[in-house]
Amino acid sequence: MFQNIKENDKYKNLVNGKWINSENNEYIEIKSVLDGSTIGFVPAMSQKEVDFVLENAKDAQKKWRETSIDERANILYKAASILEKNVGVFVESMIHEIGKDRKSCKSEVLRTADFIRYTADTVRTLENTCLTGDGFYGGSVKKTGIIKREPLGVVLAISPFNYPVNLSASKIAPAIAIGNSVVLKPSTQGSICGLHLVRVFEEAGVPTGVIQTVTGKGSEIGDYIVSHKNIDFINFTGSTDIGKRITSKANMIPVILELGGKDAGIVLEDADLDHTASQIISGAFSYSGQRCTAIKRVLVEEKVHDALVDKLLEKIKTVTVGNPINDNFDVVPLINEKSADFVMHLINDAKDKGATVLYGDKREGNLIYPTLVKDVTLDMELAWEEPFGPVLPVIKVKDYKEAIDIANQSEYGLQSSVFTKDMDKAFYIADKLEVGTVQINNKTERGPDSFPFLGVKASGIGVQGVKYSIEAMSRPKITVINL
Ligand code: NAP
Ligand code: G3P
Repeated sequence: MFQNIKENDKYKNLVNGKWINSENNEYIEIKSVLDGSTIGFVPAMSQKEVDFVLENAKDAQKKWRETSIDERANILYKAASILEKNVGVFVESMIHEIGKDRKSCKSEVLRTADFIRYTADTVRTLENTCLTGDGFYGGSVKKTGIIKREPLGVVLAISPFNYPVNLSASKIAPAIAIGNSVVLKPSTQGSICGLHLVRVFEEAGVPTGVIQTVTGKGSEIGDYIVSHKNIDFINFTGSTDIGKRITSKANMIPVILELGGKDAGIVLEDADLDHTASQIISGAFSYSGQRCTAIKRVLVEEKVHDALVDKLLEKIKTVTVGNPINDNFDVVPLINEKSADFVMHLINDAKDKGATVLYGDKREGNLIYPTLVKDVTLDMELAWEEPFGPVLPVIKVKDYKEAIDIANQSEYGLQSSVFTKDMDKAFYIADKLEVGTVQINNKTERGPDSFPFLGVKASGIGVQGVKYSIEAMSRPKITVINL
């Protein structure tokens, strides 16, 4: 039975199988983003503690890689069940820690349990392969190569605040499935959820030292961990700025980076405008737009601009707004004051430069009402910056060629949506867009997890998705038999 890890008001850290308090007695107070109440404390770990964790991780991995795939898969199935049974514990933490509504918290946790099970299924079907010599150029029939996948060693998983369970587990499960050990550095606002999650794996039977956590502010210990000699791979999700910093510090350590986005919804004149507007509004405003894959700009052909804007205006009025303690809401308070200030800055900059606010533009504390802005032009920051908040700019374009051009001028390249009934044009546009994924007649979104998930340009490096993550966190090794 899963035990709540709260003890004496301190959230202890799982280090080498023991729940420890901070060595220096230094803690970070985690406050509710909704009412400012104290939810708990996590250790602000020192460099010495980080060294200790990473030594343990190195040692533990040596034994873990010798376990069978079946053994690891069975632990993952167990972890998925424990997680599912304890969905309530996670939901109660998440609501306060990251301000997500109950329904969305629950769906994040259940989706994560599915992800973990699916990882177990996938790793069981990975096969070693054989190459025989005369099957390839220059080989002799007496040569046979056996290729197997090897773990990389110690994986550092760094997760962001917005999906503290899902984006931690989507790194941990594939990493341990293929025989790595993991050190999780959760987002500070989200670290209590991270600690709960690690506890789930521990209770499922992951041996001591195979999954540990490092808590502490990224700005203080981040550089130290990412450049540590014991780290063999970094799997990071977060902002482009921190992603860039990590690559500059992590001298030669391979990485996967999932970073920011400015996903475009491109609307052609023949699109079904009702469906398009519903998809755009839901893609833009769920969890207040605090999703990497939120629709963050609309590029609409001029012939249907006014009609689309009318539909968007009609649908934005159905977006629910409020405090998730009370009910399920689409738009909830943003994670902190700095984020809310930034969103307001983008709205004000657009207004100053001539944009028209059609709806919203209202703030109460960190709660910003869903905001729709038209007449957005390319000199406005709102056209290019990732707001990570509930504001949707609409940019009028002459035709789809101009839409492709503007879409590709962005530094980001995560996803884009194309709304049209003309499949030839949809495929043409999809082919030209510089992004990892193009959705045709659907909002931008991550799943299903069997698909590759990647960003190009400033949106990331490398590929995730269950099979792809396992492959990224392992390497082929060939042993050649010379008969
Ligand atoms: P963030 O500020 O970049 O933080 C992400 C993680 O990095 C946190 O755990 C943070 O720890 C840590 N960190 C901070 N400074 C660090 C350093 N110098 N070295 C190592 N780690 C460091 O991002 P966020 O605000 O949590 O998340 C929002 C961003 O993530 C958005 O840009 C969003 O688009 C992106 N995101 C991308 C994806 C994707 O799949 N492409 C998914 C979700 C989110 P602290 O919390 O202690 O600072
Ligand atoms: O921003 C995190 C990303 O994983 C969002 O997932 O499914 O809501 O698009 P989804």
